[in-house]
Amino acid sequence: MKLQKFFQNPRNRKALLATAGSIAAAGIGTYLYASLVEARRYRLDSLRVDTGSVENDELDEDDEPLRLRILHLSDLHLCEPESHKINFLRKATEAPYDLIFITGDIFEGYSGIPYASQIISRPPRLGAYAVLGNHDYFEYNMLHRTVGRVIRKLRSPSKMRDVTPMIEALEAQGIHVLRNSSVSMPQEKLHIVGIDYPGISDAELNRLVGAADKDHLILTLMHVPDRLERLQKAGVHMAFGGHTHGGQVRVPLWGPIIKNADLPRHEVSGLIWRGGTAIHVSRGVSADPRTNFRLFCPPHGSVIEVCHRSP
Ligand SMILES: [Fe+2]
Repeated sequence: MKLQKFFQNPRNRKALLATAGSIAAAGIGTYLYASLVEARRYRLDSLRVDTGSVENDELDEDDEPLRLRILHLSDLHLCEPESHKINFLRKATEAPYDLIFITGDIFEGYSGIPYASQIISRPPRLGAYAVLGNHDYFEYNMLHRTVGRVIRKLRSPSKMRDVTPMIEALEAQGIHVLRNSSVSMPQEKLHIVGIDYPGISDAELNRLVGAADKDHLILTLMHVPDRLERLQKAGVHMAFGGHTHGGQVRVPLWGPIIKNADLPRHEVSGLIWRGGTAIHVSRGVSADPRTNFRLFCPPHGSVIEVCHRSP
């Protein structure tokens, strides 16, 4: 009765309509900002990371550390003409780097393959290396993106894509795809391991890392930043991952609503540590373009200066 009386009052009805209208307008406005503004507000962050276990006072004065300037990109999700994304990649890769790392979800389907030639403007001194991610291997539909967020069994399609054309396109551009494999550069005292999606056994990881000489800096690329403790146990100095998109939608002073990784909320992006192993988790350059909205979580690439002292 009370409710009926409330709605019979024209002033109450007007106030209710105004409130509903304001909420709808705020929702639409937020969505438009998140998809048309923030999702295109690319940044190029820079940070320095010191790796290695030797204390400064144990070093000879002429013991120069190894310094590498690395551009870390992740989650490009290339699939359609998106000039803002390509422009960002073109500008970000114009500078001289020692290495460029791309940590998965490079393509969102075969339609992205033609854009492989537009990822890197200037080849880095020691090469570009990549691993693949779940969106390179799987084609996700609305069921996976919605119900699958709740029911894990429905999160991924059952059939994997043939990624051969994607790998060929990347290799043709000088981007070397590491699929549970490693590459050593003795002259640089550098060893790079690439973990393929969905992962690698502990024994295989230990074998790949163990192939490095004792004085080498060991860097590891992966898509999903999970089971990070084993990187430290294996002897990795620094790892690079993506996949989380930093949560894509973050609540100020609290963090991401969806983490998309088995990590504490404050570790879904940025530089984190497991013992002496540094792990850089990228927020990514993009997301699945069909749900590419971001709030308090702009897309980015990262210029990382790694400074390493061998034991
Ligand atoms: Fe992704």
